[in-house]
Amino acid sequence: MPLVATGDLVTRAVARHGAVAAFNVITLEHIEAVVAAAETAGTPVILQVSENAVKFHGWRLAPLAAAAVQSAEPSTVPVALHLDHVKTGELLREAADRGFSSVMFDAAHLPYAENVAATREATAWAHSAGLWLEAELGEVGGKDGRGPLPAHAPGARTEPGEARRFVEETGVDALAVAIGSSHAMTSRDARLDHELLAALRGALDVPLVLHGSSGVPDDELRRAVRGGIAKVNIGTALSIAMTAAVRAHLAGDERTVDPRSYLAAGRGAIIETAGRLLPTIAAATAA
Ligand code: G3H
Ligand code: ZN
Repeated sequence: MPLVATGDLVTRAVARHGAVAAFNVITLEHIEAVVAAAETAGTPVILQVSENAVKFHGWRLAPLAAAAVQSAEPSTVPVALHLDHVKTGELLREAADRGFSSVMFDAAHLPYAENVAATREATAWAHSAGLWLEAELGEVGGKDGRGPLPAHAPGARTEPGEARRFVEETGVDALAVAIGSSHAMTSRDARLDHELLAALRGALDVPLVLHGSSGVPDDELRRAVRGGIAKVNIGTALSIAMTAAVRAHLAGDERTVDPRSYLAAGRGAIIETAGRLLPTIAAATAA
């Protein structure tokens, strides 16, 4: 089926007190694997392309976006396309013409007033272009190779009162919250602050997004969804699975030269990992 809107998938997830998984895709194989996993699981899915992935492709958004649009077309489950962690205005404005229905605008590294000003402007533009906009307040650590923020560092947790003001002042459609997860974790032992999540859920009337979910174990993910997380972002878990499979494949046969053999192994590993996470996230619906 043709791409659906991220906002619709998230609204549907909120209505059933559940969440939708959003996977970061870097290559065509990621896209193929995530769509295949969602079809097998019978769940909707969001394909998301980060600004870092666009940078990897020489700042060309169109090829990967076109691959996502074309791969979603024959899918038997709803697939949405989201542009993730956008910091540059040029890239933000390209989203509307490439099949994206939503953008995460990331100004979380800026002081509060500057984050508000930049996010308000991005939201106004996104809404004029018919896009759903997610922003971040309080910074989820581990971005761009930096380590996790210490739990008590300023901004390492989203403060509910400030978040309420931020949503009112910017008009965002969804908010990424810092509640203890961190980007690029290669171990699954993050512990989330569920009390803080409950306070944020009570203070805000927009869907909440969990970033850095690769480091969050299944039980914590289920609890977070039951506690009000509506979109679960996962990237590193796919990289871990893909790279391990490619490494094992190449180590197993030093004569390998055809990239299809190891890319098939990598793609298969992504299907397996996404296929395990999708039902965990989708099934974590509150009673
Ligand atoms: O926006 C993307 C996610 O926050 C991915 O984080 O790579 O740690 O799973 P992760
Ligand atoms: Zn993120």
